Amino acid sequence: MIWTLKKIYYRTVQSVVRTGAKLVHFKEPKLITGAGSVNKLPDIMKKEHIDKALIIVSKTIMKSGLLDNVLGKLKENNIGYEIYDSVKPNPTIENIEECLKVYQNTNCNAIAAIGGGSPIDCAKVVAARATNSNLQIKDLRGFLKVKKSIPPFFAVPTTAGSGSEATVAAVVTDSTTHEKYAIADLKLIPDFAILDPELTVGVPKQLTASTGMDALTHAIEAYVGKNGTNYTNHKALKATKMIIDNLEIVYKDGTNIEGRNSMLLASNYAGEAFTRAYVGYVHAIAHSIGGLYGVAHGQANAIILPKVLEYYGESVYKKLSEIAIYINLGNKNESQKDLALKFIAKIKDMNKNMNIPLGIKELREEDIHLIAQRATKEGNPGYPVPKIISINECEELVKNLIVKL
Ligand SMILES: [Fe+2]
Repeated sequence: MIWTLKKIYYRTVQSVVRTGAKLVHFKEPKLITGAGSVNKLPDIMKKEHIDKALIIVSKTIMKSGLLDNVLGKLKENNIGYEIYDSVKPNPTIENIEECLKVYQNTNCNAIAAIGGGSPIDCAKVVAARATNSNLQIKDLRGFLKVKKSIPPFFAVPTTAGSGSEATVAAVVTDSTTHEKYAIADLKLIPDFAILDPELTVGVPKQLTASTGMDALTHAIEAYVGKNGTNYTNHKALKATKMIIDNLEIVYKDGTNIEGRNSMLLASNYAGEAFTRAYVGYVHAIAHSIGGLYGVAHGQANAIILPKVLEYYGESVYKKLSEIAIYINLGNKNESQKDLALKFIAKIKDMNKNMNIPLGIKELREEDIHLIAQRATKEGNPGYPVPKIISINECEELVKNLIVKL
């Protein structure tokens, strides 16, 4: 009885948030796309009257020489810059604070984040702290805690997955509690997003696979959740189709520029969808597991996604059947259940073809309760999931992720 009342309470909160969200205006970053588009960054910065930018960039990209042209053009345009290339894979509070000091000590007035989800997320929190120095990172946890607007912000993703260049959110890790949490605010949406497929050509196979499955998870969780609108559903469907059509191609041949371009766009569309319609328990469980063991976010999502969709059962058959038809996996004459199961089987096939394991090898039986506790705390009532699950149900789900030898 108490659980039934709790579920009613969660749905009521979600319905209030959904109504409120309709009144909110989400900025769309100005999109610059195509091979070589990163070279437009200096001209864009000049037009935006930037004097000096902090460039938060992944070490791999910095070493690759792919930015030499951009840095040269910044100098030509008399735009100063400082480089910070020490972002950790799951940026910690200490890591972000170190980066903030560089911004403050070198008189920058703009931020460019060039990298995967971690550098972009790190940069968002640095930007929030830069103009809200009275607030600590822990004070920014949750929704709408950033009081003042952030400096001009340019995001250049170098992996096709997080969609962070389109979203309100940044995920940080508290290294003392091994907890991952999100900071979400409309002010964190970048001003510009540059999607240059040439920057993603060198992404290793397994990272291509896991980040791509992260983007797929964003699209699917946004689509099957209860906050979908025409706008988010359209973006989510398009993203799903582009990922199904291109991810395995670029996994096999990373130099396929057309495929890489489609994956960057798909990741961006999925980002636009989930930042408005939210994610679900796949992400809640992946964050919980990622915080405890440092498992790569995309890989955790890829493994958890089919299990959660199976667990949702009937509640997602209709939505998954719509996706299955959209991606040409079946037709209207088939039952919703058959189409939904075909789609889940397709995800499992993709995982298998890209060497993504069936379970989380780091997962230990004794941590299951804590993982379920943290995941349900994140998901209930925050995520408008198709089916609400309790801690006990979540424990059952997490148990399924243990690798059976
Ligand atoms: Fe994600």
